[in-house]
Amino acid sequence: MSIKHNPGEILEKLGINEINYGVSTGTRWIETKGDITSSFSPIDGKEIAKVKNATLDDYEMVIQKAEAAFKEWRKVPAPVRGQLVRHIAIALRENKEYLGALVTLEMGKIYQEGLGEVQEMIDICDFAVGQSRVINGMNLQSERVNHRLSEQYHPLGIVGLVTSYNFPVAVWAWNSALAIAAGDVVVWKPSSKTPLTAIATHNIISKVLKDNNVPEGVFNLVIAKSSVIGDNFLADPRVRLLSVTGSTAVGKRVGSIVGKRLGKTILELGGNNAVIITPSADMQMAVMSTVFGTVGTAGQRCTTTRRIIIHESIYDEVRDKFLSAYKSVVSRIGNPLDEDYLVGPLIDKHSVELFTNAVNKVQEEGGKLLFGGEVLQGVGYESGTYVVPCIAEAENHYNIVQEETFAPIVYFIKYKDDIMNAIEIQNDVPQGLSSACFTNNLQESETYLSYAGSDCGIANINVGTSGAEIGGAFGGEKDTGGGRESGSDAWKIYMRRQTNTVNFGKELPLAQGIKFDI
Ligand code: UN1
Repeated sequence: MSIKHNPGEILEKLGINEINYGVSTGTRWIETKGDITSSFSPIDGKEIAKVKNATLDDYEMVIQKAEAAFKEWRKVPAPVRGQLVRHIAIALRENKEYLGALVTLEMGKIYQEGLGEVQEMIDICDFAVGQSRVINGMNLQSERVNHRLSEQYHPLGIVGLVTSYNFPVAVWAWNSALAIAAGDVVVWKPSSKTPLTAIATHNIISKVLKDNNVPEGVFNLVIAKSSVIGDNFLADPRVRLLSVTGSTAVGKRVGSIVGKRLGKTILELGGNNAVIITPSADMQMAVMSTVFGTVGTAGQRCTTTRRIIIHESIYDEVRDKFLSAYKSVVSRIGNPLDEDYLVGPLIDKHSVELFTNAVNKVQEEGGKLLFGGEVLQGVGYESGTYVVPCIAEAENHYNIVQEETFAPIVYFIKYKDDIMNAIEIQNDVPQGLSSACFTNNLQESETYLSYAGSDCGIANINVGTSGAEIGGAFGGEKDTGGGRESGSDAWKIYMRRQTNTVNFGKELPLAQGIKFDI
């Protein structure tokens, strides 16, 4: 065993008590009257701690605080707002190990990935600090004499965040680092499966907020069941942008409620990510990279590789290489706090059911099980949440293959002849998040990235589907929802855009040459 931190120590360092308040307006925890719920560790199924949930009244109080704070926060110069984000990045660096370990304890991803998640928070903060100095507009050419045409970006208002259990803190950071630098205020509703990582994050930032005299209401946390505040949050016109990570079904519901009031959304929904392996690929690289994509985070990333489309001429060889890699993974499934293990548990028994259901369904539809699919039992696996990652031979049109199963099951699919056949199979699913092609052939790689290639928001060559860097825009097309977060120019959605025309002459020419003399 090589566990560095024991659960008690992790909780103590991050200020997690037996019972915790679930509502914060930045530095202050609010005494709530809502239900008390528990957070359970998928590692052993045991309760970690309890949380006092928000009521609708608490929600209303937070939104009012956030509205008032926005009026102050938008006046603070963007580079000064960036300095706050810089201090948050420092605090995250100082707490990286314990917060990473709490992510592992509460969500179940291995400790290395817990650390990676906190690093992702730090990276996006660093990015947002830079961004705070380059929030820019554009000067354009006016068609009228002595007129100046330009555009600028202003803070938007309250940004609502609904995050998922699988990246319980990084997705908060992607959104809030940019939103805060943009001059917005944030109201965060984390997954009810992972409230403690959210509370720990707020504990970490609260000291920074105090030290920087940040008004109460800039960073807010509201832990509540969706059934208690969910629709009010979505339907609330005071929440100018809602950024939601979850399943396509959840996203469609969110989209329709927010759409009804013409609110803005960022929707990061399901993926059905494929890797294509062509005959020219470096086989070893393709297999090693793809195994991380299929079994990393126990298959619970939006970007997890769900399908592998392999040229028939190399199919047997690729399959055998995968099988031997998977065999070596089996002995490395276990307590994710122990660094000897590579694959931790699924979040809960419901996820295990979805996994076994997919294992059964693919076979019912005519697929062949090549590896795994069992639920582990015995010492160390008492929680019933550890599974052996599964490989099944399948056809792309099977109903189960068309769906996203949020667990470590991957489908092997053969293609014939040209890369276009593989691309067609890849794109023939409702989702469009991430994709990858392993090839050393220029025509194949450029075709894959062309207008006729991958239809996903992320398309990689010789890099797997998961583990995107924060520097690029993150998100996908079709049923994935169309949103973009994180790097590139994703910051723009957190701001309102304004076109300005200034007349610095003494005449009043109308655009389009219209004459209107009074
Ligand atoms: C998610 O699964 O919701 O690209 C986000 C990745 C990570 C983020 C995943 N950087 O896998």
